[in-house]
Amino acid sequence: MSLRSIEEFDLKSKNLFLRLDLNVPLNEGEITDETRIMAALPTIQYAIDKGAKIVLASHLGRPKTDEDRKKLSLQPVAERLGELLNIEVLLVEEPNGDAPKALLSNLKPNQLILLENLRFIPAETKNEKSLSEKWAQFTDVYINDAFGASHREHASIVGLPKLVKNHGVGFLIKKEVEMLNKVLKGDDKPFVTVLGGAKVSDKITVIEALVNKVDTLIIGGAMAYTFLAAKGICVGRSLVEKDKIHLAKELLNRFKVRGKELLLPMDHLVVSAIEKPGTALKTENDNIKDGYMGVDIGPKTMDYFCDVIKNAGMVFWNGPMGIFETPEYSKGTFAIAEAMANNTGLTIVGGGDSAAAIAKSGFSQKVTHVSTGGGASLEYIELGHLPGIDILK
Ligand code: 3PG
Repeated sequence: MSLRSIEEFDLKSKNLFLRLDLNVPLNEGEITDETRIMAALPTIQYAIDKGAKIVLASHLGRPKTDEDRKKLSLQPVAERLGELLNIEVLLVEEPNGDAPKALLSNLKPNQLILLENLRFIPAETKNEKSLSEKWAQFTDVYINDAFGASHREHASIVGLPKLVKNHGVGFLIKKEVEMLNKVLKGDDKPFVTVLGGAKVSDKITVIEALVNKVDTLIIGGAMAYTFLAAKGICVGRSLVEKDKIHLAKELLNRFKVRGKELLLPMDHLVVSAIEKPGTALKTENDNIKDGYMGVDIGPKTMDYFCDVIKNAGMVFWNGPMGIFETPEYSKGTFAIAEAMANNTGLTIVGGGDSAAAIAKSGFSQKVTHVSTGGGASLEYIELGHLPGIDILK
């Protein structure tokens, strides 16, 4: 069964519960990256234009203590939404209280409701039926557009849509699913996947899912050192997952047997101490001397990887090539972002660190799609489905 889109429902004067992923990074109450807010706007604006009475819901961070509750209020998000949509956003402090229902009965056309951080109530993450029932009392239509949270079996993601017959997805989830399905099919050839980040263990299931589909797998970032170690190459003091070396060997072999390419760095940027970026050196080849650790790919590797990326029919990228948060170690990651931008095929960036990296590089608008999901996009690639989307089918 297919997913119903928000466009298939009559929203006029209906109470719409719209689950979004407004989990944006904050620094002392200031939003530092509003990508997720911007990605949610088309669905909210559509619902406003159709005359729905809207209750927005989202989590923010992972609050545990009372101190966290102060830091993780959705108040800054409410203010920003109000500005962007030119609407009055009523922030309801108790998402599980009676206020939403009461407010809905008198809601004016230039107002919408935003429930305070859903994770302030333990019943949300425990997926307690009583909470979903409370929301179901006032919900005519349930729409999920929280792609980034759709791998969570929480009340607002799977509990409520079970109880509301009229349920579907917003524009963001539609686009995320359409794009990630292209990655899963791997039909646009040559299909290149670029993986980076710290750990092989974080990406192993993604590699498994794509091993038969990719033409070339590029591995950079710290996870590359485990693969290089598996090939018997010296990696100095670089981060290596010793217990994953056998797995890396096995994967290298699988690629070889299938006649596919698995590309690893051929040179590196190295330091003897991470906190001394001014002392960084380039290696001659893929070997790293004792006492040094890799912090980024080197210039020869950048050229090599970027050439492969530029000529691909489709590129999926997840994970940075180095410690890109430090400017001196960011060149490799930004070079990948630029090569993606220069590719004329399909270019899809998995969420999390790589989404942050492409935003920082300034090339976000030049790629086909930047996923708003971190864990959710990886889980979608790994399994081909997510609980919060399955429930709507
Ligand atoms: C994310 O940031 O990946 C999503 O908002 C999900 O957040 P979570 O990992 O805390 O569930």
